[in-house]
Amino acid sequence: MPVFPWDTLADVTAAARAHPDGIVDLSVGTPVDEVAPVIREALAAASSAPGYPTTAGTQALRQAMVDALHRRYGITGLTPAAVLPVIGTKELIAWLPTLMDLGPADTVVVPELAYPTYEVGALLAHARAVRADSLTQLGPSVPALVFLNSPSNPTGRVLGVDHLRKVVGWARERGVLVASDECYLGLGWDDSRPVSILHPEVCGGDHTGLLAIHSLSKTSSLAGYRAGFVAGDPDVVAELLAVRKHAGMMVPTPIQAAMVAALDDDEHEHQQRRRYARRRDMLLPALRSAGFTVDHSEAGLYLWATRGEPCRETLAWLADRGILVAPGEFYGPQGARHVRVALTATDERIAAAAQRLADPAR
Ligand SMILES: Cc1ncc(COP(=O)(O)O)c(C=O)c1O
Repeated sequence: MPVFPWDTLADVTAAARAHPDGIVDLSVGTPVDEVAPVIREALAAASSAPGYPTTAGTQALRQAMVDALHRRYGITGLTPAAVLPVIGTKELIAWLPTLMDLGPADTVVVPELAYPTYEVGALLAHARAVRADSLTQLGPSVPALVFLNSPSNPTGRVLGVDHLRKVVGWARERGVLVASDECYLGLGWDDSRPVSILHPEVCGGDHTGLLAIHSLSKTSSLAGYRAGFVAGDPDVVAELLAVRKHAGMMVPTPIQAAMVAALDDDEHEHQQRRRYARRRDMLLPALRSAGFTVDHSEAGLYLWATRGEPCRETLAWLADRGILVAPGEFYGPQGARHVRVALTATDERIAAAAQRLADPAR
């Protein structure tokens, strides 16, 4: 395994903490807002749970996943047999290649700039990870699995319908499994319109060889609950279910009940989206006024920013102002001159960051 990247930030973290008005931590991207009462009540009501949960999820949960994907993202044609709850999507991503029985002979494609767990998943299965954003980069080789992530962590880039359609057609011709990580799908800003791999405009209503991975961590601020799910090709979902049953990968019963409440209620999700939009509106102009160039960032929870210098220098410059961000190099070699700035802090902390960026005396 590679060194756990966050462990390398001790010095800049200490520097940012030394700011007289306290640290503004925009590094990990952990949600900070209250869990909605409707979710907490469902959790509490289900807290007497002496028996084992079902790996497949309760009937209510499976229906809630199908309905939410239809209502929120226009995904049609899913049945309760085509969805499966997971213990947070990091768990699924890290173990997907292993659960699919990939091994040393297999290649897993991950984006050039990517959430590190895709590569970790390949390593855990002893498979080979290859970074590529375009199909031509792959040449004639046929990978076993392609991870997509739109909107992207860390860049906020959105893959359009045409791009996704091409990937689906290419993968179908070759029998390649496509796993699309869609945890930021509801967070498109400006004119960007993120779309699911399972949307009929992308896949023509045929989910063969396609998986969409959805997390409740950011949309419902449930990162502490560990709640996510996967949807798509019913045969692949059945295979995942069969292995996960044996391996004890079950979502706890009270969390399943909380997920139903979260998926059935769109109001708290809209409210969370508005919070992040407000924070983005404060931080984006502040970064630009301070001389940063912000690339992509048209969706999702991060601003992908550069001062045209190595990312560790930018990290130190920001830490001097009490602001902690993530170095772009965590996400791939192409990130060496960028930093990733998360929108996941309270309004008060985001305002403090904007003020420090505007103030030469900080
Ligand atoms: C792209 C991406 N995928 C997956 C995850 C994991 O989310 P969780 O395990 O909380 O569902 C994250 C978390 O930040 C992420 O950025």
